[in-house]
Amino acid sequence: MPDNNQLAVQGSFDNIFSTDRTAELLESAKPFLELMMQNECALREIETKLNVLNDEFSTMYNYNPIETIKTRVKDPLSIVEKMKRKGIQPTIANIESSINDIAGIRVICSFPEDIYAIADILTMQDDITLIRRKDYIANPKPNGYRSLHLILGIPIFLSTGKKVMKVEVQFRTIAMDFWASLEHKLRYKHDIRKAEEISAKLKDCADAITVLDEKMQDIHNQIVRENREEN
Ligand code: GTP
Ligand code: MG
Repeated sequence: MPDNNQLAVQGSFDNIFSTDRTAELLESAKPFLELMMQNECALREIETKLNVLNDEFSTMYNYNPIETIKTRVKDPLSIVEKMKRKGIQPTIANIESSINDIAGIRVICSFPEDIYAIADILTMQDDITLIRRKDYIANPKPNGYRSLHLILGIPIFLSTGKKVMKVEVQFRTIAMDFWASLEHKLRYKHDIRKAEEISAKLKDCADAITVLDEKMQDIHNQIVRENREEN
């Protein structure tokens, strides 16, 4: 038997749902919610693949190439704003065809060489298609931004059949991630008169981080070599 509190809650829900417009609104939101759910599923597929690779490296070589994995689905407001910027009507079909980063995953690696190793292994898997690759590590952006960006196609299996989803995967080192997070925060915060000065300082930091990443990679390679020789 439901108690009085439960009945009260049920009663208030009945009131909400009896309003025609609410039901209509919920119904019209369904295709969008469905799209978000499908993107969540695609993210989980890629995240699992990355965790499998990290577990394998950990067991076989006693080494984790991936430090952290961050996933996010783009929030609805950002989707609508991006469609507005592109000047495209925000229908479900248009959103799906014109936005590549509804599902986004950031893979933070210890060393630059891990980035290419993991990205290549992932891309070669036979259920994944490479839609686009932008190498901002080999070709940094003028502000100093460095990361490897992939747009991947990955199938998800729904009750209605297979659907290929797009996922944006950004690979960076811990140092590159530190820089990008800070640059993102500072970009909108400073006084416009200081913009040039701050951009120059950030570019200096990006250069220093590049040197740091290379040095850390060298040390790591040396240790791996020495361990191999000892064994
Ligand atoms: P958008 O996704 O519409 O921005 O354009 P695009 O598809 O050409 O994207 P691109 O692959 O160049 O970059 C996509 C994402 O990478 C951005 O949404 C950011 O998360 C990140 N990114 C790119 N450039 C920068 C940068 O200069 N600084 C920082 N902090 N992040 C960047
Ligand atoms: Mg983006």
